[in-house]
Amino acid sequence: MSSSVSHGPRVEIAGVGKTYGRGVRGVEAIGSIDLELRPGTTTALVGPSGCGKSTLLRIVAGLDHATSGSVSIDGETPAAYRQRGDIAVAFQDPALLPWRSIASNLALALRLTGRPAAPDRIAQLLELVGLGGFERSRPAELSGGMRQRAAIARCLVTDPRLLLLDEPFGAVDELTRRRLNLELPAIWQSQPTTTLLVTHSITEAVLLSDEIVVLSPRPAGIVARVEVGLEKPRRADQLASPAFVELVSRVEHHLGIDTLTAASPAA
Ligand SMILES: Nc1ncnc2c1ncn2[C@@H]1O[C@H](COP(=O)(O)OP(=O)(O)O)[C@@H](O)[C@H]1O
Ligand SMILES: [Mg+2]
Repeated sequence: MSSSVSHGPRVEIAGVGKTYGRGVRGVEAIGSIDLELRPGTTTALVGPSGCGKSTLLRIVAGLDHATSGSVSIDGETPAAYRQRGDIAVAFQDPALLPWRSIASNLALALRLTGRPAAPDRIAQLLELVGLGGFERSRPAELSGGMRQRAAIARCLVTDPRLLLLDEPFGAVDELTRRRLNLELPAIWQSQPTTTLLVTHSITEAVLLSDEIVVLSPRPAGIVARVEVGLEKPRRADQLASPAFVELVSRVEHHLGIDTLTAASPAA
């Protein structure tokens, strides 16, 4: 493991709004969001599909511009911060280079961010995400879930100071997902990275984060912020604890899920 000590940045999202297009055809994705990500903490973003979560993540990554407001990462713009290779982003679509092996995709991430080669760390991370033995495989030879895990390893290999994850476990099977949910935080907490995680799994949000931010339907606005406060590292046996169950139901309540009942007869 790299011995470099990084300190996750403070991220200030101030009055950020985003409208795609103009006039009557304009789509307001984000109303106005004020949110601070504390250094070294993990914040989970949950909200209805299409509410603007990916849009917010792209703005924090410096991959898209806000229509109003601003994002500051330790006082710098996202674009400037990203240029130094201090941001890693994992989207639901893993976007690995198809002609390179998995190990070589990770090696390229190191090179592109000006990091020294680290074959041992690459092997260790691939082992961790369950891809030991697949170093030489090409992305097309792996399943969708394996490619996603490779993309997560690629994110972590550069020791980013800011980690932005957009539903990174979407295509990963439930068992592997649970294992990654329990093991990955140990890696990014050893750094300590500031992490923003978009997920549609409330259990995953509670397991991985220090704070859960619940967003409204589009245009996204903050409905609630829920401090998680469970002992870390999180363990599988916490899933059944009253505190865990209470947190999940609080988030469900803010999302309006608890008012839906499967048994309700069609009117
Ligand atoms: N590049 C784009 N151009 C126009 N509309 C977009 C674009 N990207 C996203 N949108 C719209 O903005 C809204 C929010 O999208 P998104 O941020 O992807 O939502 P989420 O990630 O929460 O599902 C949606 O209505 C979507 O159709
Ligand atoms: Mg999205």
